[in-house]
Amino acid sequence: FSDMLVDSFGRMHTYLRISLTERCNLRCQYCMPSEGVDLTPSPQLLAPNEIVRLASLFVASGVNKIRLTGGEPTIRKDIEEICSQLSNLKGLEKLAMTTNGIVLAKKLPKLKESGLTSINISLDTLVPAKFEFLTRRKGFERVMESIHAAVECGYNPVKVNCVVMRGLNDEEMCDFVELTRDRPINVRFIEFMPFDGNVWNVKKLVPYAEMLDRVVKQFPSLERIQDHPTETAKNFKIDGHVGTVSFITSMTEHFCAGCNRLRLLADGNFKVCLFGPSEVSLRDPLRNGADENELREIIGAAVCKLFFGFQVKRKKASHAGMFDLAKTANRPMI
Ligand code: GTP
Ligand code: 5AD
Ligand code: SF4
Repeated sequence: FSDMLVDSFGRMHTYLRISLTERCNLRCQYCMPSEGVDLTPSPQLLAPNEIVRLASLFVASGVNKIRLTGGEPTIRKDIEEICSQLSNLKGLEKLAMTTNGIVLAKKLPKLKESGLTSINISLDTLVPAKFEFLTRRKGFERVMESIHAAVECGYNPVKVNCVVMRGLNDEEMCDFVELTRDRPINVRFIEFMPFDGNVWNVKKLVPYAEMLDRVVKQFPSLERIQDHPTETAKNFKIDGHVGTVSFITSMTEHFCAGCNRLRLLADGNFKVCLFGPSEVSLRDPLRNGADENELREIIGAAVCKLFFGFQVKRKKASHAGMFDLAKTANRPMI
């Protein structure tokens, strides 16, 4: 137990998000400028064997769920190989991915074979022209195809992440709910998180209460169901629907108290919270020959450090709303 990643608030960290690449094949307006983001030179990015080595240390320290993120994780040519190696780590129960679904459909069978257990697909609109506006690329049909292919492939539920933005897609919420009628799809409405350069977008936030109201008006049988204390989502069911509906209320009812998430970035930096700029490099000690114990020590100390017998607060209790968000160094996707 002493080797587990517990912070000074008693939160046990069992969920690691690994960003496999900074690159993406879309340019969502809320995430990236049209020219893309500055890319880390590739020698400074983790190699696949380094990713697996670091992941194995986290799993040895109690992590039982890994989510692969990006940028867009499926654009890596070695994605299946990385999945196979990670899914073989003893103690890992869930290997998940968050993807934009653009090239997912054709990769699905191999990913499933490689041990990928769960899939979340991001989709903010069901109107093709709006998709092109929001993402600055074509591809709506391919994303829909991927959602259906994931259902066919047996993923249950297939989660669809929809970031709700006032005046852009808030009128589409009930159309999204329709996706859950006949299929094991979990549609998740996400409160828009303003961050770094896009603080102006705060006007686009549609609060949870308002989202809920919109859905209940059309689907009065909407009823809260159980969610796990560490989950980002509040879950609901609707009479007669195969799938479910959820809300991720990062802004109006944050879920920091139950946070079990850690982050490993593509350049090997380690983050204990999505918000706030503090990062520690695991790549550098790894490349300088640190052994397993030294690396686990560095990881543990970033989560919680003892100083003359007192716990030093490395991870904050919660983010402080807009103030923290404005300083966030990374995109929420990560
Ligand atoms: P599940 O494992 O299926 O529950 O997915 P998830 O919600 O943990 O991850 P996903 O990548 O699907 O992200 C969905 C939304 O949750 C995104 O808008 C993320 O930015 C948000 N999210 C994920 N992790 C955190 C976090 O640590 N803090 C906050 N505030 N939001 C997060
Ligand atoms: N606010 C809320 N969610 C966001 N995502 C990306 N940027 C934001 C933001 N500013 C979502 C993506 C993806 C998930 C991992 O994070 O749409 O579904
Ligand atoms: Fe790509 Fe995701 Fe960012 Fe959109 S939100 S540009 S899909 S990384």
